[in-house]
Amino acid sequence: MVSESIVSYLVADHARLHALLDRAMETPDLDPEAFAEFRRGLLRHIAIEERVLLPVVREVRGGIPLDRAHELRIDHAALTSLLVPTPDLALCREILSLLTEHDAKEEGRDGVYEECQRRLSDRDLARLAQRAESFPQVRVARHFDGPNVHRTAKGALASARRMRSPRKVEGR
Ligand SMILES: [Fe+2]
Ligand SMILES: [Fe+2]
Repeated sequence: MVSESIVSYLVADHARLHALLDRAMETPDLDPEAFAEFRRGLLRHIAIEERVLLPVVREVRGGIPLDRAHELRIDHAALTSLLVPTPDLALCREILSLLTEHDAKEEGRDGVYEECQRRLSDRDLARLAQRAESFPQVRVARHFDGPNVHRTAKGALASARRMRSPRKVEGR
């Protein structure tokens, strides 16, 4: 896939990730391969936004992050924490509801991607698309089920708002 802009790359990635999650949820016991691919893909997608797109936009704004960057970061932390426990259908529904809301904040008119597009030149957007496309797979840790592990979007969001550094799922 060759994208002209990091924004079109990320929008296409949203659709790809939603399709994977839908596929995982097609059977009551979940499709484990589809879920694993979704999990890896979402962690990589979040990493591209956090480490490539948002820092570059902050830089062109003279070091000032976008107003909504903090809110996105909270969603990212909550989504990441929901990828920690062993998944079942109920957990996937929680992830789907949070992800759908989150993607809407990024896509569409007045979304964060639109704001990024306004701040960056076409050349920057194309250069960042290349960086996104070549961004490596992230290594993921095994699922972990413990007393403080969240299985609802509400709980994950509340705890992400309290914590500065969320539990990492990436294995590095
Ligand atoms: Fe995001
Ligand atoms: Fe996104």
